[in-house]
Amino acid sequence: MQHESQSVDLRRDTTTRPDRQMKDAAFEAALGDSVYGEDPDHNALEQRAAEVLGKQAAIFLPSGTMGNLIALLVHTGRAAEVILEQNAHIRTSETGNAAAVGGLMLRGVPGPNGVPAAEDLAAAIRADDIHYPRSSLICLETSHYRYGGIVASLQAMSAIRELADQHALPVHLDGARIWNAAVALEVEPALIAGYVDSVMASLSKGLGAPVGSVLAGSERFIAEARRYRKMLGGGMRQTGWLCAAALQALRPDNLERVRQDHRNARALAEGIAALPGIEVDLVRVQTNFVLATVTRAGMDAAQLVRGLAERGVLATAAGPSTVRFVTCSEVNRDGIDTAIGQLRAILEH
Ligand SMILES: Cc1ncc(COP(=O)(O)O)c(C=O)c1O
Repeated sequence: MQHESQSVDLRRDTTTRPDRQMKDAAFEAALGDSVYGEDPDHNALEQRAAEVLGKQAAIFLPSGTMGNLIALLVHTGRAAEVILEQNAHIRTSETGNAAAVGGLMLRGVPGPNGVPAAEDLAAAIRADDIHYPRSSLICLETSHYRYGGIVASLQAMSAIRELADQHALPVHLDGARIWNAAVALEVEPALIAGYVDSVMASLSKGLGAPVGSVLAGSERFIAEARRYRKMLGGGMRQTGWLCAAALQALRPDNLERVRQDHRNARALAEGIAALPGIEVDLVRVQTNFVLATVTRAGMDAAQLVRGLAERGVLATAAGPSTVRFVTCSEVNRDGIDTAIGQLRAILEH
């Protein structure tokens, strides 16, 4: 909920601040040592996350990056190969942790809509040969960060599940924004998670919790994940402060925030589509991201982003001519109208 004097920040959805209910819940948290399973809100959050994601168990973690890394470590072994879409967040934006920490190889395959075709994944699965690393895991991502929040269809996920089963491979989902995917597909998050063995979901993005992600899977998988959380230094102590807030973030009515973010992104995209010198593919605006292409001669994305910043609207140059706008509950409809107005002022000038 921005104030007039503040800028309209459309750079990220990690800027969401906790609402009153989250703050009150954090204040009231009983607290205990969660490494020993003694923090009641921590335990309740893990149980609730498992329910919402339709898995036997879940674990609370400081970040999505740690959640994905732990999933990779539990599912594989050193020198194993993980197959995933080539622009997946795990491959592009998690500091090479799979290689540095896990001794893993990440094999990227193309997937123009964020999801590789099952045939392409099948072709990337290695034969059992002493020369090759072992194909050990398939990773998916929905909604997909690099492709502007596009959502994997359930048909595509089902085809990949089938392929994985044929090869006895587990599937992990980077579901940092599974909430957005669920809202876009109008299904429960658990339905999406039903196609995979493990899922990481962020609580600190559109849902508005201040900190944290969860990783969910079978009891056995999560028991092993607890060892890795400790190994990686993610065994925080009195996490009740964070988990009480995160429990509020998992209130069913809280998904309304995400729905509103999607409506705002759509309004922004439609506003941009009507402007000269910039284009947007409305079909690809499925969640809270808008990727726009600057087409005006002599102007690139960085210039447009600078111009917007001077006018109090923050966005990201995601490529030479690509500008990324991300909506979240910190920006209301007035903010969206302001952004469109400032874009118009620059581009119609
Ligand atoms: C798709 C995706 N996966 C994983 C992450 C990592 O989450 P965190 O920033 O909590 O480490 C992000 C963060 O933006 C993301 O967009």
